[in-house]
Amino acid sequence: MNIVDKFGYIKNLSREQFEALQSISQLLNREVYEEDIVNDMLDWVLHVVNAERVVFARYELAGESFQLIASRNVNKKVTNRLEDFSVGIFRQVVLRKQPVLYHDVQNEQGLSQFASVLIKKIRSVIGVPLIKNDEVWGVIVADSQSDRREFTDSNLLFLNFIANLVSLALDRAVKLRVLAEDNLLLKRQVEEFREVPDMIGSSKAMKDLFKLINRVAASDATVLLLGESGTGKDLAANAIHRLSSRRENPFLAQFCGSIPDSLLESELFGYKRGAFTGAAGDKKGLLEAADNGTFFLDEIADISQALQAKLLRVLENREIIRLGDTQPRKINVRIITATNKDLQQMVKEGTFREDLFYRLNVFPIRIPPLRERKEDISLLAQHFIEKLGRSELKLGRFSLLKLEKYHWPGNIRQLLNVIQRALILCDGERIEEEHIIIEEQQETMSFSGTMEEFEKRLLLKRLEEHNGNRTQTAESLGVSVRWVQLKLKEMDIK
Ligand SMILES: Nc1ncnc2c1ncn2[C@@H]1O[C@H](COP(=O)(O)OP(=O)(O)O)[C@@H](O)[C@H]1O
Ligand SMILES: [Mg+2]
Repeated sequence: MNIVDKFGYIKNLSREQFEALQSISQLLNREVYEEDIVNDMLDWVLHVVNAERVVFARYELAGESFQLIASRNVNKKVTNRLEDFSVGIFRQVVLRKQPVLYHDVQNEQGLSQFASVLIKKIRSVIGVPLIKNDEVWGVIVADSQSDRREFTDSNLLFLNFIANLVSLALDRAVKLRVLAEDNLLLKRQVEEFREVPDMIGSSKAMKDLFKLINRVAASDATVLLLGESGTGKDLAANAIHRLSSRRENPFLAQFCGSIPDSLLESELFGYKRGAFTGAAGDKKGLLEAADNGTFFLDEIADISQALQAKLLRVLENREIIRLGDTQPRKINVRIITATNKDLQQMVKEGTFREDLFYRLNVFPIRIPPLRERKEDISLLAQHFIEKLGRSELKLGRFSLLKLEKYHWPGNIRQLLNVIQRALILCDGERIEEEHIIIEEQQETMSFSGTMEEFEKRLLLKRLEEHNGNRTQTAESLGVSVRWVQLKLKEMDIK
C-alpha cells in the first residue's frame, strides 16, 4: 500500500476507529502498567472490529512458540487456552510480518486446524503483528464465527496503527517498570549504606543503628533514645532531625537533668508578662520556638511529676500554655527524648508516669555502649585525631590494643577525652602506649566502704559491663580468669 492509498484509508477511518486510536495513543503519555495497556487494547479491538473474540499472544522467537497474554470474548466468557485459537493464523502473521485477513478460514489451506471445536466454527479472522526492532514479538488476532463485513482492509490498517501504538506504549511501560524496580533497589541500597551525619562506625551494631535512624527520620514518630552516657544520644537526635523533612526548621534541645523545676518549666513553655516576679514581658518557650521543627528533651527521666503531666498534655494535644496564660497555642513539633535510666523500671516504681512513658516510647532506639562495638575504636580514634587537627599522627599498634582492651564506661565521650590527652602528651609522629592514659571513673574514687566491699562491687560492676563474660572482665581488671572465678566462689555468686 502506497502513501496515497494510506491517506485514503485514513480519511475513511470511522469515528470509532479515531476514538480508539486517540485513546490508545494517550496511553503513551500516561504512567501505565503493561496489563492495563493490553487490556485497553483488547477492549478497543473487540469493539471497533466487531469481532467475537480477540487474543494477544507473545511470540518467543527462540522456541518459535506463542504464549497467551490476554484474551477477550464478547459474551464475557474468557477463553484462557491458546488451543482455542488457530495457531495457523499466528504463524501466518509471524511469517509475513504483516497483517492478515481471511473471510473463509475453513477453506484456507494450512490454516484450518481442527484442534478445537471452537476453531472449527471460525469463519473470519484478522491478525496483526506487534513489531519491535524488525522482529515480531507479539500477535493480535480477532475472529468471528460469521462472515463479518467489518473485517475489512480499512480495519486491517486500523489494527496496524493500533499495533504500532501498542508496541510503543508497551515498550515504554516496560522501560518505566524496569526503571522503577531499579530505583527501588537503589533506594534500599542507599538506605543500607547511607551514613548518619557525624556518626562514625562500621560495626554491625552501628550499621543497624544507622539504618534505624534513617528509617525513623523519614517518619514523624516520637523517638526515645536509650543508652549509657557518652554513647551518642545527642548526636543521634540531631541526625534524626537533619535527615528528616523538618531539617530546614529549628532543632532545639533542653537538658532536663538537675535544673530547678520552675526554671525548666518557663524555658519549655514560656510565660506571660507578670506570671511571676521578674517576668517583665511575654516570652516564647522553647517548645513554641521549635515550631515545625524538632525538640530534643535530654535526660527525660529527671523531670518532676508536675512537668511530666504538662509534657503529657503537649504530646496528647500538640499544644502548650505559657505560664500565667490561659490560652492554649497549637504547636507542630517532633519530640525526641533521651535517657540513660531504665524508664520502665521507674514506671514500676511509680516515679515516672506510665501514660507519658508510652507516649515517649513510640519508637525506642538503643544506642549500644562502646564496649559492644570495639571494632569501631580504631575508626573513632582516627576520626578524633583528625578532628583535633593532628591528622599526621598515627595510632601505634600497642596503643590501639590498649584502647580496645578497656571497657569504656564513659563510652565515646571518654574515648574522646583519652585521645585529647594523648595528643597533648605525644610529640612524636606516633601515639604510643604511654600516651594513652585512662582515668578510672570518679565514682569508684569516692567509695567509702572497706576493701572487700570495694572488690566485690567493682567485680560485679565489671561483670555487668561485660554481660557476665568472665574472660573480658578479668582482662579489664588486669587479673586472671581464675582469680575472677575464685572471687565469685568466695562471695558465693553464681
Ligand atoms: N558514633 C560517633 N561518632 C563520632 N563521634 C561520636 C559518636 N558518638 C558520640 N560521639 C561524640 O561523643 C561525644 C558524646 O556524644 P553525645 O551524643 O553527647 O552522647 P550522649 O548524649 O549519649 O551522652 C560527643 O562529642 C559526640 O560528638
Ligand atoms: Mg547527652
